[in-house]
Amino acid sequence: MTAPVRTEAATVAVSLGARSYDIVIGRGVLASLGVRIAALRPGAKTFIVTDENVARHVLASAEAALAHAGVATSRVIVPPGEASKSYRVFEQVCEAIIASHIERGDLVIALGGGVIGDLAGFVASVVRRGIDYVQVPTTLLAHVDSSVGGKTAIDSAYGKNLIGAFHQPILVLADTALLDTLPEREFRAGYAEVAKYGLLGDAGFFSWLEANWREVFAGGNSSGSFAREHAIAVSCRAKAAIVARDERETGDRALLNLGHTFGHALEAACGFSERLLHGEAIAAGMALAFAFSARQRLLPAAEAERVTRHLAVVGLPTTPKDIPGPLPSVDQLMDLIAQDKKVKRGMLTFVLVRGIGAAFIEAGVDQSEVRAFLSEKLAER
Ligand SMILES: NC(=O)c1ccc[n+]([C@@H]2O[C@H](COP(=O)([O-])OP(=O)(O)OC[C@H]3O[C@@H](n4cnc5c(N)ncnc54)[C@H](O)[C@@H]3O)[C@@H](O)[C@H]2O)c1
Ligand SMILES: [Zn+2]
Repeated sequence: MTAPVRTEAATVAVSLGARSYDIVIGRGVLASLGVRIAALRPGAKTFIVTDENVARHVLASAEAALAHAGVATSRVIVPPGEASKSYRVFEQVCEAIIASHIERGDLVIALGGGVIGDLAGFVASVVRRGIDYVQVPTTLLAHVDSSVGGKTAIDSAYGKNLIGAFHQPILVLADTALLDTLPEREFRAGYAEVAKYGLLGDAGFFSWLEANWREVFAGGNSSGSFAREHAIAVSCRAKAAIVARDERETGDRALLNLGHTFGHALEAACGFSERLLHGEAIAAGMALAFAFSARQRLLPAAEAERVTRHLAVVGLPTTPKDIPGPLPSVDQLMDLIAQDKKVKRGMLTFVLVRGIGAAFIEAGVDQSEVRAFLSEKLAER
C-alpha cells in the first residue's frame, strides 16, 4: 500500500435512525480502522473477511491498524470473484467465524470489493442471529455503491443476489489509496456507477465529471487534487440520500437502477463473464436508456449523445456493438429483460430520463417499443 499522504477525511452520514452510520472517505483512512472500531464498540473482537487479491495488497495494513488500537482480529481469505457469493463459501465463512469464538457484540469486517461486502454482510446478518459489521471497500464500485445501503446477498442457481438480507454496516471506511492497485479496467467499470449519480439526479456533477474525470482516474493528492475523493463523496452522498428516503426499495431507491434493465440483460447475455463487467454493462445500459428516452421524445437527441460521448471517452461501452464476441438476438434480450423486471400486460417498468440529472420511474413502457429500439441497436453492428 502507498503511504498515506493525507489522513484528513470527508464524512458522509447515512441517516437511518438507530441504524445510522458514517462513510469516512480519504487517502490513508485505513490507518484509523482500529481506533474507530475501538471508539464505536469498545472491547469488541473483529473477524476480517477478504479475498486473495485484496489480502495480497491490503490485509497487512488492515491488521496493523487494528493491532495499533489493541483490537483483536482473526480472518478468512476466500477466492476472488462472483463465485464466492455461493452457499459453499457462505458456509465456510460462517463456520470460520464461529470457530474463532466471535460473539454477539463482536464485529465482522468486510475487506474487499462488492463480492466480499455482499458475502460478509450477509454472513453478519445471520451469524448468531445477526452481528454488526464494518465495510472497508477496496474497489471503486464498492466505494460508491455496494458498501453503502445495507443490501447484502449471495447468489442462487436461479439468479444473482436472490438469497440475502437488508443489514446496514455500522461504519464504512473508504480509503481512496486502496484503489491505486485496482486493475484499470475494474476502476473504469466502477466509474460507470459514479457517472450514474450525475445522470440520475445531478446535472452539475455530470458536467464536473466531464471536466475532471482524468483526475478522478489518476487519484493521488500530491498535486493538490482531491478529485477522486470529491467524486466518491458526491456519489456516496447521493446514494445515502436515496437510501435514507427509501431503505427497502419500495419507491425512489429504484432510481439507482438507471441503466440496469438494459445493462443486466447484456450482462446476462454475456454469461456474467470477463467479457463484460457489471459497470461496463451499466455504461452501455445508461447510454441505451438515454437513447431510448430520446426516441420517446423525452429529451433532445443531442443530450443523449452527450452522455454517450462522455462514457465513450473514458473507454466504456455505450452500445451492443462495443461488446466483443457474439451478441444475443433481440428475442434473447427481451426474454432477459422480462425475467429481470416484472411485465404487466406487455408493459415494462423502466428508469427513463427527461434529461441529464432528471431520471424518473416509468411503469408503462411498451415492450414492443423496447424491442424495436433494441433491434435497431443490434443491427448497428
Ligand atoms: N449490495 C449492493 O448494494 C451492491 C451494489 C452493486 C453491486 N453489488 C455487488 O458487487 C459485486 C461486484 O463488486 P466489485 O465490482 O467490487 O467486484 P469484486 O469484489 O469481485 O472485485 C473485483 C476484482 O478486483 C479485485 N480487487 C478488489 N480490490 C482490489 C484492490 N484494492 N486492488 C487490487 N485488486 C482488487 C477483486 O479481488 C476482484 O478480482 C457483485 O457481486 C454485485 O452484485 C452489490
Ligand atoms: Zn450497478
